[in-house]
Amino acid sequence: MTDSAAPSTAKLTIGDKEIELPVLVGTEGEQAIDIRALRSATGAVTFDPGLGNTGSCESKITFLNGEKGILRYGGYPIEQLAEHSSFVEVMWLLIHQELPNAEQHESFTHHVTYHSMIHEDLKRLFASLPKAGHPMAVCAAAVGALSTYYQKAGPQTAEQNWIDAIRLLAKIPTIAAYSYKHSIGQPFMYPRNDLSYAANILHMMFATPCEPYEVNPVIAKALDLLLILHADHEQNCSTSTVRTVGSSGANIFASVSAGISALWGPLHGGANEAVINMLESIRDGERSAKEFMELAKQKDSGVRLMGFGHRVYKNYDPRAKILKNACDEVLGQLGQTDPLLEIAQELEQIALSDSYFIERKLYPNVDFYSGIIYKALGIPSDMFTVFFAIGRMPGWISQWLESQQDPDARITRPRQIYQGSNERDYKPCTER
Ligand code: ACO
Repeated sequence: MTDSAAPSTAKLTIGDKEIELPVLVGTEGEQAIDIRALRSATGAVTFDPGLGNTGSCESKITFLNGEKGILRYGGYPIEQLAEHSSFVEVMWLLIHQELPNAEQHESFTHHVTYHSMIHEDLKRLFASLPKAGHPMAVCAAAVGALSTYYQKAGPQTAEQNWIDAIRLLAKIPTIAAYSYKHSIGQPFMYPRNDLSYAANILHMMFATPCEPYEVNPVIAKALDLLLILHADHEQNCSTSTVRTVGSSGANIFASVSAGISALWGPLHGGANEAVINMLESIRDGERSAKEFMELAKQKDSGVRLMGFGHRVYKNYDPRAKILKNACDEVLGQLGQTDPLLEIAQELEQIALSDSYFIERKLYPNVDFYSGIIYKALGIPSDMFTVFFAIGRMPGWISQWLESQQDPDARITRPRQIYQGSNERDYKPCTER
């Protein structure tokens, strides 16, 4: 749907110069001033730290409206996908922007559950890293190392890119599970290609060679839901990183490895682990929920209400809404109770009626409740963000593939406003 009322140009005056800039309109009516001619016409650049007002690309993959709390992959509402779809189907949807037909679904499911082994030599990489090292660092290293095994990877033919995309989707669960097994000193469990995508992850995480392991279907289903909700979120920090690295011509493994590193930060995907640490500190009596909330409002305290706030959502994150309901359901099905859920609900209650959070439009984001579910599934907290990375993999891949085909794509190279010293003459050390 296009907005017929949208202006086709915008006028900008700077000093005695006036220029007319085209206005792009997206299919959902979003407007963007195309400033590509700005610098050559006026000598000025734009200043937008954090790029909150900058559209860095055109994309057909994911639509999100932060004011209304809408998220759609390829036009399909996240609520419908969460209820009716599967993670494997969502992978295809993101990459092709269409749902697969039955034949495509079958063949794609085969590919992403078949190419799951990693090269035996790559296992030595895990062994060479400290057991206490964070699994996100291990996964970033192992994914980056895939390009040493698949040396044809790069901005290549569509066919080669597709093969590498399948490799990443099929092998990331194995890499993730090996990072965990290495950290606890258990033997690696080879993937089982007869299991579903989610069930195989659980098998590789929790089975041992000593005894049979049955995947609990409730846990596999809940995991599949989490992966769907994490699958893409348009130009977030890690996805922009993947596109930026890819813009230099770097291969898909190197680009995605950088995305994993970006996701790790506590202001991004690492927030799910930080949320659990925060809730546990309240549970363990470090401070009460109310005291914590007072601290979170003080700028100089260095404390934030983790899992709250979002650059784009100025409304309830639709993924958090789904996860909040799923928390009750999954805990109920598993016969568990978790005091952390009550603490999270109390924090949310305080926030939603506190003017500080209301005025700044701070609502729960995807990470606020996801950690409680991961915990209920038995996933250790330092693996939460790794699971987020498994989920985000099809998003990174589809965005990387799209950027490689974009005729407007150029190497990412922003400008700066220099505020340093003006020209001065060098003085030898003795004269300084
Ligand atoms: N707790 C307390 N205050 C907050 C929080 C929070 N969680 N989030 C934002 N604020 C305040 C800021 O201090 C700022 O206040 P001010 O206007 O008085 O200066 C205002 O709200 C706007 O916040 P910004 O930091 O400018 O918002 P920005 O868009 O840059 O940051 C971010 C978004 C990083 C997500 C931020 O809300 C945050 O740090 N949240 C906690 C971490 C988190 O949950 N991250 C996960 C995000 S979802 C994801 O990446 C998967």
